[in-house]
Amino acid sequence: MPDGRVTIHVRFVVLLLTLAVGCGGEVDVVPRDTSYHNPNLPLEARVEDLLARMTLEEKIGQMHGVTVADIQDMNSTPDNARLGIPGFHMIDGMRGVSITTGAATTFPVGSARGATFDPDLEAQVGEAVGAEARAKGNNMLLAPTINLLRHPRWGRAQETYGEDPLHVGLMAAGFIHGVQQNVIASAKHFALNSIEDTRMTVNVTVDERTLREVYLPHFKRAVDAGVGSIMCAYDKVNGVNSCQNTHLLRDILDGDWGFDGFVESDWLTATHTTVASALAGLDVEMPIVRFFGQPLIGALNSGAVPVSVIDDAVRRILRAKFRFGIFDGKPPLDPATVVESPAHTALARAVEREGIVLLKNAGNVLPLARATTHRVAVVGTLADTVNLGDTGSSDARGSYTITPLAGIQAHAGPVEVTNLARDTLSADDLNQIAAADAAVVVVGLTAADEGEGQQPGSTVGDRTSLDLSADQQQLVLDVASRNPRTIVVLEGGSAIIVEPFVDQVAAMLMAWYPGMEGGNAIAEVLFGDADPSGKLDVTVPRSADQLPPFIDDQNQVEYDYYHGYRYVDKNNLDPRYPFGFGLSYTSCVLRNLRLAASTVAPNGQVRASVDVQNTGLIAGDEVVQLYVGYKGSRVDRPVRELKAFQRVSLAPGETKTVSLAFAAADLAFWDVTTNTFVVEPISYVVQVGSSSRDLPLQTTFAVADR
Ligand code: BGC
Repeated sequence: MPDGRVTIHVRFVVLLLTLAVGCGGEVDVVPRDTSYHNPNLPLEARVEDLLARMTLEEKIGQMHGVTVADIQDMNSTPDNARLGIPGFHMIDGMRGVSITTGAATTFPVGSARGATFDPDLEAQVGEAVGAEARAKGNNMLLAPTINLLRHPRWGRAQETYGEDPLHVGLMAAGFIHGVQQNVIASAKHFALNSIEDTRMTVNVTVDERTLREVYLPHFKRAVDAGVGSIMCAYDKVNGVNSCQNTHLLRDILDGDWGFDGFVESDWLTATHTTVASALAGLDVEMPIVRFFGQPLIGALNSGAVPVSVIDDAVRRILRAKFRFGIFDGKPPLDPATVVESPAHTALARAVEREGIVLLKNAGNVLPLARATTHRVAVVGTLADTVNLGDTGSSDARGSYTITPLAGIQAHAGPVEVTNLARDTLSADDLNQIAAADAAVVVVGLTAADEGEGQQPGSTVGDRTSLDLSADQQQLVLDVASRNPRTIVVLEGGSAIIVEPFVDQVAAMLMAWYPGMEGGNAIAEVLFGDADPSGKLDVTVPRSADQLPPFIDDQNQVEYDYYHGYRYVDKNNLDPRYPFGFGLSYTSCVLRNLRLAASTVAPNGQVRASVDVQNTGLIAGDEVVQLYVGYKGSRVDRPVRELKAFQRVSLAPGETKTVSLAFAAADLAFWDVTTNTFVVEPISYVVQVGSSSRDLPLQTTFAVADR
């Protein structure tokens, strides 16, 4: 626990003592043997017992962050000394625990982890980040970020897992399970918060079907995974601020999904009102109390907010405190053995290995054989730049970072590495590039190009274009004109248009923001110590007009039904790299797709299996993807949608049978006439393969009438 926090806690206790007994009085602390303290009682009984002992002021005291005077502790809610209720201590941590608490294991960003298509690995990441958050004295992590990547220009694209609701939801569920071994997770930002420049003022209009089918299913999966908390967003949805949006918070989150955790507001300006927010289901105003606290007491006294609403909010908060061991005092973890532990940093490297996407490999220029590659030139400023992602709230940094150059040097063995880690090349540099057996040029985006906006120290926001800078494009072309074995390593948070140079270079890989161990993982892939096996979690277009418009300078935006691969498929467009795409050094053949049943009940499970054989000479992974199309639906449907995926590791020559299953309920569309999800009794086309555009196996099944 940082020293500052200890001091602050003492100050809180003094403040609460003053509130409870008046100046100079003694606090009347409830004895430790009172019922709600008993960990053997059922959780709900403890909640009810404690709730019954609380004054209205104490209840409302649970529902907000600190006062302006305590602004330095603005990620916390106050303790209650009389009843012994600990406050929340929240910390950001989408790629590792926030730099505000010092160094921590810094993982590849969310989009890189999405590219692993590996929810089990993501659960390990969650567990590691949660453990480090706990070791640093926190009991709640403000992650995962799961807004859907509607457009790759979104400044926070790097935080989320990608453009597909099912995939984002499954990755998030993995992370949440892991985090909540240690602390509460908070899925954010609810909802439709995927434009940065106008995030605090924009009104996103969306029709109910699009909302339910495209922009919310991943939040539902987070709820089904037991997420303890949801953060409501800055933006307005259909004219109503997210944190006072009855439709989002009461109708859908609580009503339809049965969420029993609590909702806290996003930070600076997400709470706008007292009565409307409380009635809509905002439980905790963060980070500074403005609309809750005294104004909420006033609203209670005037009858504008009934006690039942307050009780419901406090029940949710107390439930979380009991459920996650906050109340009973979870044993602290030792930062010295947990933060940046060898296991965690090794995990950061493993995740990047799985997340790197090999986009092009003409003539099998990769992997670089150490026996025949005598000299490799490593080019570009980014080759030797610490490039972990943006400097907004997800900013995390390790106490060291392996840059691509450092990783290549460490893994080169007998290969001579020529360090040309600069963007301006001299004539001599160009000669050295020409003389090398291969050139690796690292280009991409940095925190200067994309990131969270309106955050102290970062006002970057959304990307202005999907292209690389003209200078970087020219750098790649210059290198490629001197060396036919030019390999481009791209860094960045989402899709980058590569048209200006893709045909000139031999190989290209997407390394994302690769985390503190990224250089090692990149080098392992380049030299073939690891097989690249990541798959794109975002469509890479040839030009911006292959995607829906991205508007970041207006306060009124409409989110349509189609984006990403659904958009390019529907409009018959040919993206440069489709969703789910990624090459490997080995080759896999998929055969023998079969379904457990050709007709499935509307509440049943669709079960498929497929044989996958590694027909290459080295071990490797494949991500088997199952998409479904709709025949004869009475509404407009996407051409195909991802319904299941499974990563599988195969030795050379090995065949494994992969099972893929999903609920028939996932085939439903939102029927605007009945306001329900409807699974139609029609025919469904199952396609299985290794990307959304490489689907060699196909079969059909039907859903029974009832
Ligand atoms: C961000 C949240 C973050 C919070 C606390 C906000 O501005 O939108 O994602 O958790 O700040 O740092």
